[in-house]
Amino acid sequence: MIGVKIMFKGLWNNSKKTRVPSNINMNSIPKHIAIIMDGNGRWAAERMLPRNMGHRAGVEALRDVIRTASNIGVKYLTLYAFSTENWKRPDSEISMLMKLLIEYLRKEVEELHYNSVKIQTIGDIEQLPNEVVKEIDRATTKTRLNNGLHVNIALNYGGRSEILNVIKQIGREIRDGKIQVNEINEELVETLLYTANIPDPELLIRTSGEIRLSNFLLWQCAYSEFWFTDIYWPDFKGEHLLEAISDYQNRQRRFGGI
Ligand code: IPE
Ligand code: IPE
Ligand code: MG
Repeated sequence: MIGVKIMFKGLWNNSKKTRVPSNINMNSIPKHIAIIMDGNGRWAAERMLPRNMGHRAGVEALRDVIRTASNIGVKYLTLYAFSTENWKRPDSEISMLMKLLIEYLRKEVEELHYNSVKIQTIGDIEQLPNEVVKEIDRATTKTRLNNGLHVNIALNYGGRSEILNVIKQIGREIRDGKIQVNEINEELVETLLYTANIPDPELLIRTSGEIRLSNFLLWQCAYSEFWFTDIYWPDFKGEHLLEAISDYQNRQRRFGGI
């Protein structure tokens, strides 16, 4: 009996099953959901706590959201964790964010792996501190063959910088005679984005009441449905994800048609 218990320990589907409200249509769960996890600082300020405590609480919030996404069959979850603009923050806050990321990966990878989660990143990872790069390598290598939820962490990510990289790459290929100008098309660009092989997000969520993209997935969100909430990221739970999905399912996506 004990053996059985241990075997299922940590297996989300068996331990804490997600209660799916009846207004959610399980046949049209978005394949890819992107989240701008915002409001850690304000969450902390409201409690007279230092910003770093808000970031710590923000990391805690990941657990419920990832488990819910996995249990209802979302295939890709892209999480905006650090933008190319976030380098403007004080050094002490940046190093705390990096420390929390390392801590998170060290602590959570086993359980994520056990639940078939595949960890990936988008962004200019090589420019991050060595220790972070190493921990990311470890997590992505360990989980690379998993075919459950793909958790895609956007780190040192900027939509404009991503598109600039594509432009440079195409420039080099033209210079080297590998392609002609008239061969440039959307499909080619997509193969050169960080998100090559990942479908565009059907749903983009931003917490904390800000209604902007902040340089996130500029190309990929061309036809995404946006869902904004005033809730600060540390308070965001699986139930809010379900609320966003339910709202998404009631939208009419026309893609320019009628
Ligand atoms: C989001 O929370 C986390 C990161 C950008 C890393 P913020 O730190 O932006 O929180 P607010 O917007 O100041 O409340
Ligand atoms: C966007 O949040 C970046 C992340 C959530 C990682 P910010 O807090 O950095 O964005 P702005 O400054 O409000 O646009
Ligand atoms: Mg913010």
